[in-house]
Amino acid sequence: MGTEISNLQKARAAYKHRLPQALSDGNIKIELGAPTQPATDRQEIKKLFPHTYGQPVVKIVKGQGSLSAAPLKVGVVLSGGQAPGGHNVIAGVFDAIKVVNQDSRLFGFLKGPGGVIEGSCRALTAEIIDQHRNTGGFDMIMSGRDKIEKPEHLTACKRNFEDMDLAGLVIIGGDDSNTNAATLAEHLRAEGSKTSVIGIPKTIDGDMKNELIEASFGFDTACKTYSELIGNICRDAASAVKYWHFIRLMGRAASHVALECALQTHPNITLISEEVEAKGTTLEQIVDYIVDVVVKRAAAGKNYGVLLVPEGLVEFIPDMKVLIRELSDILGRDEEYIHNLRDHSERVQYLSTQLSDASAKVYRSLPEDIQQVLLRRDSHGNVPVSQVETERLLMDLVSDRIELMKSRGETDAKFDPLAHFFGYEGRCAVPTNFDADYAYSLGYAAAQLIRANLTGYTVNIRNLTKDVDKWAAGGTPVTMMLNMETRKGKSTPVIKKALVDLNGKPFKTFVKNRESWALNDDYVFPGPIQYFGPSEICDAPTITLSLERE
Ligand code: FBP
Repeated sequence: MGTEISNLQKARAAYKHRLPQALSDGNIKIELGAPTQPATDRQEIKKLFPHTYGQPVVKIVKGQGSLSAAPLKVGVVLSGGQAPGGHNVIAGVFDAIKVVNQDSRLFGFLKGPGGVIEGSCRALTAEIIDQHRNTGGFDMIMSGRDKIEKPEHLTACKRNFEDMDLAGLVIIGGDDSNTNAATLAEHLRAEGSKTSVIGIPKTIDGDMKNELIEASFGFDTACKTYSELIGNICRDAASAVKYWHFIRLMGRAASHVALECALQTHPNITLISEEVEAKGTTLEQIVDYIVDVVVKRAAAGKNYGVLLVPEGLVEFIPDMKVLIRELSDILGRDEEYIHNLRDHSERVQYLSTQLSDASAKVYRSLPEDIQQVLLRRDSHGNVPVSQVETERLLMDLVSDRIELMKSRGETDAKFDPLAHFFGYEGRCAVPTNFDADYAYSLGYAAAQLIRANLTGYTVNIRNLTKDVDKWAAGGTPVTMMLNMETRKGKSTPVIKKALVDLNGKPFKTFVKNRESWALNDDYVFPGPIQYFGPSEICDAPTITLSLERE
């Protein structure tokens, strides 16, 4: 990074992160609750995690405790997609270990979990930390999508930690990374290692949450960034009165980002993947719904509109889901053969002989670029959904249908669509006050769990809709959040992804309003994130969180 910084960066560097009361003076105590267990698959999980199963929920409270004041060496690692606030988690860990003992040291493992396995790290000094306080991005130590899961990875980590004399490792990541934290914690305890492993809930997707973990950091800033842009587009649509804007929003699986942005801006159409899956809506039926709104608006003289589509949609449409599953099985078997075929048409031909008739038909009906993306897999075996241009697919299908209706004299709608994808624009935005404080508090609390020599926990900060000083801090045992799922054909312990709850208040609020939003121009313009000014503008949590915690 260059040395020149913007005026906003200078002002944000001076922003004093706020902490919950329990963390804000030196008097910190750990309270242990009752033993815990996961909701399902208890016997299997107990067998896999004999040393860390059943640990109690912990609370970090004010009081005279017996936490270690010895100098600590701690490591941090950023895992997976960027989320605003990552640097503040690191700053929180740094400040917490330094305030107790100035000789404590913090190390940042480079480029994600791969850096932990390789032992590649940099010492993080006060100067480095200060340069990154309240900034977006993960560039301080970079990120990566490797996983610490194979026996040789676990052995390498233990060796590196021993060489470094590390008291603890803070893994800043989503559901998969926190699951890996549990696996590493279990291995280290089994091997008699003293290194604690603590996870932090991170992801803009907002899908790592449960009763004890109210939100993942980064969701607030990312949604507000996208909502600003969507609001601007709504106003442009209503001004130019000639375009339909199809906007795809990030969120690998869950539709929390799309739902929050809809609640913030009231666009004409928002598709929610979880609803599509629950109702078994086919691609054709989705097109029917969009066409119906386009035609009705056109009849009211409105040949414009705004549609939001979550990037994970394709994996929730039943016929596409079956296709993707069949393709995964075929790729698992014949990947090399398929990729060595001469060209794409040969691949389509070969796949037609391997797929079921129904899936072969769906696959052939897709545009070639989407067919190609569906043949790729990331290092976790997932389809790289952020490369599937679902908004263009829908635009094309709606266009074709409108043309057909026009040729039959059924509508005179003018349909001129424009495509947008908002993803990377929000992942490294300057964190909102909420994310700046929340992420800092998460890091600060992680350091207390390490001081208490606890391991296999994800930090929780609760009461997030209240003032920061009323937030409560603690730790949730990861084993309590696990369930068994089939991954790559094998029963595997994982943290359950929190998808949009169709009985939850955020979704119900959306459903209550969507008909009106479809036909009227009820657009709301949230404007850019504000960092300075009245609290109701600068500190408000997301609508999702407010409704969930009402
Ligand atoms: P995480 O789950 O790791 O937080 O990443 C979330 C995300 O931003 C998704 O919304 C998106 O699908 C994905 O990352 C894209 O990541 P990449 O650019 O590495 O493919």
